[in-house]
Amino acid sequence: NVWTLATADEVDSSNTQLMTRAAQGAPHGLVLAAERQTAGRGRLGRRWQMPLGAGLTFSVLWRFERGLSGLAGLSLVVGVAMVRALRRFDVPVQLKWPNDVLLDGRKLAGILIELSGDALGPAAVVIGIGLNMASPGEVDQPVANLAEAGYQVGRNALLAELLNQLAAVLATFDRDGFAAFHAEWTACAAYLQQPVLLRFSHGEPVAGVALGVDGQGALQVDTAAGPRVFHVGEVSLRAA
Ligand code: BTN
Repeated sequence: NVWTLATADEVDSSNTQLMTRAAQGAPHGLVLAAERQTAGRGRLGRRWQMPLGAGLTFSVLWRFERGLSGLAGLSLVVGVAMVRALRRFDVPVQLKWPNDVLLDGRKLAGILIELSGDALGPAAVVIGIGLNMASPGEVDQPVANLAEAGYQVGRNALLAELLNQLAAVLATFDRDGFAAFHAEWTACAAYLQQPVLLRFSHGEPVAGVALGVDGQGALQVDTAAGPRVFHVGEVSLRAA
C-alpha cells in the first residue's frame, strides 16, 4: 500500500496544505482528508465550500517519475479512477471534460490538480478531490449528491476505494501515459457528439460539437471555423 493517511478536523484547503508539505519534502503517497475546509478551492479560481458532513474532501501527494511536460492528460486519468471507484458502489457516473464527475448530468465531484517541478525532472503533484455526499444547501449551480440520489455509500469505504483506484491508475499513467486510458475515458465521457460551449477566463466563448480527446487528453471540437483543439487549463465546458 502506497498511502499514508492523515486526517484533520479543519484546514484552510487540503490542497494548500499538501502543496506546502510537498515543498518541504513530504513523501509520495501522503493523503490528507479534511472534515472541513475554511478556504477550499476549485478550478479556475472558484471556491469549493461544503457544510460539515456534506462532503468527502481530500488531497493526495504523488511524486511522478515523469516531468511536468509528460503530465498532459493527468486530470482525465484521475476522473477515470473516480468512475471506477464509484461504479464499484453501483453509482453510474460520467465524466465531463476535463474532469468533473457527473451523476444524472449534474456535478457530483470535482478535481483540482496542482503541480510543482520542472519539465523533465520528477514532478510532485497534489490531486484534490471534493465529492458531494449529502445536500450542500444553497449552491449556484446544479449539483448532485449521493444521498439525495438514493445511494447509500459509506464515506470511509468510498475514500478507501478511491485511493485503491488512484494508486493503480496513477502508477499506470506514470509508466504508459494517457494512451493507456484513452478508450476508457472516451467510454465514460458525457457530451461527446453533442453541441457544447467553451468558455475562457478572457475572450468570447466558442461553440461547437465535442468530438473526443486526442492522445494528450486535449478536447477536439468541431467549430464553425473548423476543427479546434482545447487543452486542459483555462477552459470550461458546458452543454450548449
Ligand atoms: C472543481 O471542480 O472546481 C474542483 C474542486 C476541488 C475541490 C477539492 S476539495 C479537496 C481539495 N482541496 C481544495 O481546496 N480543493 C480540492
